[in-house]
Amino acid sequence: MNWLNDNVNLLGLIGAAAIIIITIFVVGKYIKQIKYDKSTGELADENWDGIGEYKNPLPIGWSISFIGTIIWALWYFLVGYPLNGYSQIGEYNEEVEAYNTKFESKWANPDDQTLLGMGEGVFLVQCAPCHGITGDGINGKSADLTIWGSEKAIVDVIVNGSKGMNYPLGEMPAGLLDATSAKAVAAYMVEKVTKTGTQNADLVAMGETLWVTCTICHGEDSKGMNGSSPDISNYGKPEFIVNVLNIGKKGSIGNMPSFNDGRLTDIQKLSVGKYVNSLTQ
Ligand code: HEC
Ligand code: HEC
Repeated sequence: MNWLNDNVNLLGLIGAAAIIIITIFVVGKYIKQIKYDKSTGELADENWDGIGEYKNPLPIGWSISFIGTIIWALWYFLVGYPLNGYSQIGEYNEEVEAYNTKFESKWANPDDQTLLGMGEGVFLVQCAPCHGITGDGINGKSADLTIWGSEKAIVDVIVNGSKGMNYPLGEMPAGLLDATSAKAVAAYMVEKVTKTGTQNADLVAMGETLWVTCTICHGEDSKGMNGSSPDISNYGKPEFIVNVLNIGKKGSIGNMPSFNDGRLTDIQKLSVGKYVNSLTQ
């Protein structure tokens, strides 16, 4: 049987069997004692409907445990937890911080290949449960990362809007431009702003004339006007993904949690950003 090969299961089972056997033995012993043993000693004067009490001294073991418990309780409140400020959570946090510092310094200057490998590891553990192992978003349950950040995704953002990152400007409204104009703006944006290169070079000139629609909120330099809206000059790049990881996004698809709680170190965020970036087609 498979579960018998597991040491922890086996230990648990042996422990359970031991507890059952010891319980049966002890209970049996005392029931027998209650039934047949005759007690001896001097009876106290009190008597409650025929139930009397012997004047036996306290068992020594009991006294020691009683006094010991009081001493331990005093020590616990005065010297031990909580009054002197020790906490297990605090110790855990300190250990994690020390480990992370060591981790950050060990991987301070990783090459691209190392970053991608680290990113893949982080992705499979932290992101794949929602985004799928291939990053496809599991049938629309979360963002499809194989197209997120692409030229086509920018068209989607312009047509459908975007919300949930809590920027001071609020939501980016849907329907800012029609589909054709959106395609032209997307072409201009990837060619001239994010500089990742367009597949629709013929639309770049038209997109340039429409770009003012975007600078109203994203600023002349596309950097988001001092945090009023996202910096889209690095949209679709690892830096933008790190930003999403830091703030999270309660968008129209669902809730992307923030990872700004110490779960990931800066280098891990960058590595998973690079990895996600490598998924984009
Ligand atoms: C009314 C102000 C406003 C205008 C106009 C605007 N945006 Fe936005 N944009 C925002 C805000 C605010 C966000 C962040 C929304 C959020 O919380 O997800 C955003 C987000 C984005 C994003 C990131 C989406 C994502 O998936 O995170 C892109 C790309 C973008 N805008 C491109 C554009 C382009 C291109 C234009 C011009 C057609 C444009 N925006 C016009 C306010 C605006
Ligand atoms: C609890 C589920 C969940 C987890 C875990 C999760 N995501 Fe997401 N993510 C989402 C959802 C849902 C969205 C879509 C949000 C929206 O726009 O409605 C999303 C959106 C995104 C986006 C697009 C954001 C944008 O601006 O449009 C990126 C990039 C992303 N996730 C990367 C990651 C990475 C990297 C990880 C792992 C470190 C991760 N996600 C972990 C649920 C999750």
